[in-house]
Amino acid sequence: MTIAHSQSSDASVFSHPDMTIDPPHEQVVFCRDAATGLRAIIAIHNTALGPALGGTRFYPYAAEADAVGDVLRLSRGMTFKSAAAGLDLGGGKAVIIGDPDVDKTPELLRAYGRFVDTLGGRYITAGDVGTTSDDMDLIGQGTRYVASKTVANGGCGDTAPMTALGVFSSLLAAAERVWGSADLSGRVVGVEGVGKVGTHLAGLLVDAGAVVLAADPHALAREAFAARFPQAKIVDDVRSADLDVYAPCAMGGTVTADLAGETAAAIVCGAANNQLTTPQVEQVLGSRGVVWVPDYIANAGGVIQAFSEQQTWTFDQMQQKVEDLRGRAGHVLDTAASKGITSGDAARLIVAERLSAAR
Ligand code: NAI
Repeated sequence: MTIAHSQSSDASVFSHPDMTIDPPHEQVVFCRDAATGLRAIIAIHNTALGPALGGTRFYPYAAEADAVGDVLRLSRGMTFKSAAAGLDLGGGKAVIIGDPDVDKTPELLRAYGRFVDTLGGRYITAGDVGTTSDDMDLIGQGTRYVASKTVANGGCGDTAPMTALGVFSSLLAAAERVWGSADLSGRVVGVEGVGKVGTHLAGLLVDAGAVVLAADPHALAREAFAARFPQAKIVDDVRSADLDVYAPCAMGGTVTADLAGETAAAIVCGAANNQLTTPQVEQVLGSRGVVWVPDYIANAGGVIQAFSEQQTWTFDQMQQKVEDLRGRAGHVLDTAASKGITSGDAARLIVAERLSAAR
């Protein structure tokens, strides 16, 4: 079968001729509220498996086209992520254009919530880059279709710790296959981005005895990180360091052909969505024996936690499902090895199976 790719530089909504298992987007909504300055785009990629759940990114896009391209890629990634994690959820995502440090106000978030509400539950929002559980509480004043509100407000709280646990669990699966052992002690791991997820991942890595290098352009994030993890080393750029593992936990698109051709890391496994600049980059990684755990496999912990709000799972059951990502990642890597295909193609096979069964 032809295996479709989850990423494309093409920002077209209606047509993705190269994506045989990747249907075009169902619905894209542009939202503007003059009173609060809100400019948001909600993209529902696919609802074959259930309502489209995915976070809201608040980001100062330089151009509207960048925001459109990002929300289309991110929402498509959510379809893949929930399908691969075995969840009955579709894929959706939203972006709010603006600088969260400057433009985020309670009124704007409430106005955004009212737009989410107009979709009647086809899209359920949650946190992402630039948004927090506190923000979800405010969005929740405009809609009930919001996950990961604070625990005090009846939600499951910040999804970053579970996302980090899923990345860590996936990394253990990769380590077993690359080094024959999941023991990370002494392994040098470069954590790019020490925001909500990167910080929690660093904690798990430090506990596992890994040597953590971290980078973040945000001075406050660096300071908070250094105070919490004095044993970790802050560097300007983890990508050029002598790493065993590169863990991208900031924005996507950092795994370029150049990085793939040069990195010292044996494993690439992180939380960032849409890590590869093009699917072809994986061939370069593969030709150098670098193992990549597909982003939407490794970073599914957050959506599993958000989904748990609609289930009767206990916290322990939910956490177990996140830790099970070790088995899911391992299965993807083993399938890739046995079939002689890339891990990205192996992950897409799993997605294709679930989406075809749903159709
Ligand atoms: P965040 O906004 O809390 O943290 C991102 C951090 O990356 C910030 O501290 C920022 O300063 C830093 N950063 C930006 N550009 C950078 C660069 N060039 N180099 C190094 N650091 C840079 O976001 P969060 O929630 O930690 O998410 C991180 C990534 O994980 C994002 O790609 C997000 O989409 C993805 N993700 C997050 C989930 C969650 O539960 N929060 C779930 C699944 C994926």
